[in-house]
Amino acid sequence: MAALLQLAGVNVQFAGLQALSNVDLSARGGEIKALIGPNGAGKTTLFNAISGYVPIAAGSISLNGSAIHGLAPHAIAARGVRRTFQNGGLFPELTGLENVLAGLHARIDASFAGILFGTRASRAAERDAVARARRLLDGLGVSHLADVQVNTMSGGQQRTIEIVRAVAAEPPLLLLDEPAVGLAPPVRAQLVELIRRLAGETGIAVLLIEHAIDLVMAAADVIAVFNGGAKIAEGPPAAIRTDPAVLEAYLGHA
Ligand SMILES: Nc1ncnc2c1ncn2[C@@H]1O[C@H](COP(=O)(O)OP(=O)(O)OP(=O)(O)O)[C@@H](O)[C@H]1O
Ligand SMILES: [Mg+2]
Repeated sequence: MAALLQLAGVNVQFAGLQALSNVDLSARGGEIKALIGPNGAGKTTLFNAISGYVPIAAGSISLNGSAIHGLAPHAIAARGVRRTFQNGGLFPELTGLENVLAGLHARIDASFAGILFGTRASRAAERDAVARARRLLDGLGVSHLADVQVNTMSGGQQRTIEIVRAVAAEPPLLLLDEPAVGLAPPVRAQLVELIRRLAGETGIAVLLIEHAIDLVMAAADVIAVFNGGAKIAEGPPAAIRTDPAVLEAYLGHA
């Protein structure tokens, strides 16, 4: 099966800084690929390049075989690339449920006018959306946050809502930037389970940036390691754990 996402020879430059050098990377439906590497390695920049927030200086990025580099972020999102941000991005005045519904509406966009005009079919669609949003919240053990306003939640609770919102629309490609930061251990375990279930059951492709190595080992099918803007290794968790270049990057010795 052809890759859903394909990066080839991608370079990103910021005034005098080569943030990504000649990066090749792919993502397949149903696969969870973790991106790891020290601070400043270029992981978030890679997400920014894929989702159109920073331009690439060389190379190509394609989704389902068509180039997406050069498109605006909203156009890339419309093709089914969803992401979470390292520093949040929720509607603070809305409740957990309302935020998740905002993510779902991205999917039922076509019927949005119907929702506004209150046709019977659209009311049914809205009821379905609410039920689905509640099921998603329940699945991550946060149904108690459905009616809580986001700006009164803890950081960990906001994190969880952000993830639920991003996955609500079952995007073909999901980019998660350090989703486990601030989560309590039981919620982290539920998060791993949720990500694995999403990839396994809905067949979406997940790229997961994460520093917590236990979580990466538990969640990822494949791990790609970055250092200084370059991909230095890629393979299954067991192989990455003992890769000399990876040990060198993390521990300073091989
Ligand atoms: N918009 C920008 N303008 C200038 N430099 C940037 C910009 N975004 C990132 N950088 C620089 O690019 C390099 C890679 O940053 P990036 O945020 O991609 O790293 P990261 O791997 O996500 O690190 P962390 O694990 O700390 O989140 C860093 O040196 C960073 O300072
Ligand atoms: Mg980052």
